[in-house]
Amino acid sequence: MKIEVNQTQLSNELETLADFSDTPKPSVTRIVYSEADRKARAWFKQLCRGADLEVREDAAGNTFARLSGTDPSLGAIATGSHIDALPHAGRYDGTVGVLGGLEAIRALQRGGFRGRRGVEVVMFTSEEPTRFGIGCLGSRLLSGSLSASAGDSLRDSEGRTLNQVRSDAGFGGALDTVQLKPGHYAGFVELHIEQGPLLEKRGVPLGVVTAIAAPASLRITVDGEGGHAGAVLMQNRHDAFSAACEIALAIESAARSTGSIDSVGTTGICEVFPGAVNSIPSRVTLAVDVRDIDGTRRDGMLDQLTRAMAEIAARRGVRVTSEMINCDAPAACDAHVVKALETSCEKHGFSFDRMVSRAYHDSLFMSRLAPTAMVFIPCRGGVSHRPDEYASPEAIAQGTLVLAETLAHLAA
Ligand code: GLV
Ligand code: MN
Ligand code: MN
Repeated sequence: MKIEVNQTQLSNELETLADFSDTPKPSVTRIVYSEADRKARAWFKQLCRGADLEVREDAAGNTFARLSGTDPSLGAIATGSHIDALPHAGRYDGTVGVLGGLEAIRALQRGGFRGRRGVEVVMFTSEEPTRFGIGCLGSRLLSGSLSASAGDSLRDSEGRTLNQVRSDAGFGGALDTVQLKPGHYAGFVELHIEQGPLLEKRGVPLGVVTAIAAPASLRITVDGEGGHAGAVLMQNRHDAFSAACEIALAIESAARSTGSIDSVGTTGICEVFPGAVNSIPSRVTLAVDVRDIDGTRRDGMLDQLTRAMAEIAARRGVRVTSEMINCDAPAACDAHVVKALETSCEKHGFSFDRMVSRAYHDSLFMSRLAPTAMVFIPCRGGVSHRPDEYASPEAIAQGTLVLAETLAHLAA
């Protein structure tokens, strides 16, 4: 069978998808269940139906489009990623895996492929943590890694629960119907931009992912004492923001202290109350992200942070509380799926590197449900989560070709 990827159509579709955005070009902002997200979902489903795929949605809004196999009793082979985009992001993160996944299936159809197993592209709900504070919402639910009670406990910044918001978006069923049974999929492969600089630097067109780093995130609240910015003497202050700054620096030094380039720590959100130039901050909320390929070393950073918070709180006379939002184990990719990707690279004459993923992906949770691996393509300068994120049409088409070949191999 000859597999041919329609690079022009795929590039045009990526461009169209980027237009569903709440911020001006070249940035893309598409928060889960927002109007932009809903319009993009409708457009994507239409593309899938146009390709004669069978489309299904679950109660979380995970969307599945299937090319059926000849033996429906066998687990399907799935691919996919996400289309939600964090504020002022780029146009390739996640979308390459969704539209590339669809194009891979269309390429198989054009080549006359019919496997024993079905082949399915999945668009996962809210891989980004923007709205509900926790990433990979859809794949956590699918893999049984998040309980259905999250529907009432997770809230957005306006205080609306996940259940309220998803039901307004048209996804009203019970969340406990989302989890898939073991065996539902016989394999999962995700195509994604690398989001780091290694492939581009080495001039290697593809990366086969062997492991995905362990992410953790915390919400930290610092309660100090507010007051008049002119009148309260410095020695009498319990400034919540100054304490929060020390906490942010403690996170940085915990990550630097391990001696491994795989340890990273970020304070991505800082909300200051009451937020007036002439008022001492009385309360600060931080959102913190800590990761490592090695779960034990990641936990060591979290321990360091806990000790630092206690010391800063005591010295500055403020109260520091923290809530763990998620603390996930790293994932090892499946040897058989990795091999299938490597064989596909070789078949098409592409060199590849084995690599780890420092970013998380829906694959982290899909690996709990089915044998999983990922394929990376280079992105310019390793830039991601920024409007100037870029992957070339050729790189995207190459990744899609290897994906299609791999899906065909696994589904045959
Ligand atoms: C995914 O977007 C991540 O933060 O790794
Ligand atoms: Mn992302
Ligand atoms: Mn992504």
